[in-house]
Amino acid sequence: MIDIKRVTFSRGANVILDDFSAQILNGEAVLLSGSNGAGKSTLIQLIGGFLTPDSGSIEIIGNDISQLKAKDQAQLRSIAPQRRIFDLAFTVVQTLNFVPKKRRSLRTHQIIEELGLVDLLDKKVTELSIGQQQRVSLALALIQEADFYLLDEPFAGQDAASQVRTINLINEIKNEKGVLVVSHNSDNTHSWFDREIVLN
Ligand SMILES: Nc1ncnc2c1ncn2[C@@H]1O[C@H](COP(=O)(O)OP(=O)(O)OP(=O)(O)O)[C@@H](O)[C@H]1O
Ligand SMILES: [Mg+2]
Repeated sequence: MIDIKRVTFSRGANVILDDFSAQILNGEAVLLSGSNGAGKSTLIQLIGGFLTPDSGSIEIIGNDISQLKAKDQAQLRSIAPQRRIFDLAFTVVQTLNFVPKKRRSLRTHQIIEELGLVDLLDKKVTELSIGQQQRVSLALALIQEADFYLLDEPFAGQDAASQVRTINLINEIKNEKGVLVVSHNSDNTHSWFDREIVLN
């Protein structure tokens, strides 16, 4: 379980989360929605341990994430950020190989296939379209073995067929793991989630 306990977090005078609590259980796919600037990406970064709450705490399977080393955080959660900038001209396969073999999911091959990356493996990431890069970014997060997957707008910039394939993949992964997905209702994907958390 991801247990977000009475978290308050501000950036300067801007209070982004105020005494916010929520839980994400193993085996569920939860939609995190809310308007631009509501704090969705901030919450993902807090759960990921990149930011630390001003008060309250976030535990993943009983571990206070902000107290863990990066290596231990990585075993608990894997994150696909809203924007991942690929600026080095590695190929797709080289990029995916940055995830050490022993840390890779047993589904790695399936993930690469379902995200439509097989034909792109030898292409340079810097020469892919934005939607294709988005799929590489998602694959990078999903092939890392972890207990929870935090996906920040994985459907953005993806065509309808890719969105459906992504949904099917998340649906399989959530049988064993927990998944938190940031998305806007306009993506027409919200009915598919087990539950929705709305930030305002
Ligand atoms: N690096 C930063 N420095 C200062 N303020 C920031 C930073 N990143 C975000 N903010 C502010 O924090 C608030 C929440 O931003 P956040 O990115 O979490 O929103 P979001 O819900 O993910 O929005 P979107 O739907 O546009 O992705 C916004 O008011 C934003 O201006
Ligand atoms: Mg965001």
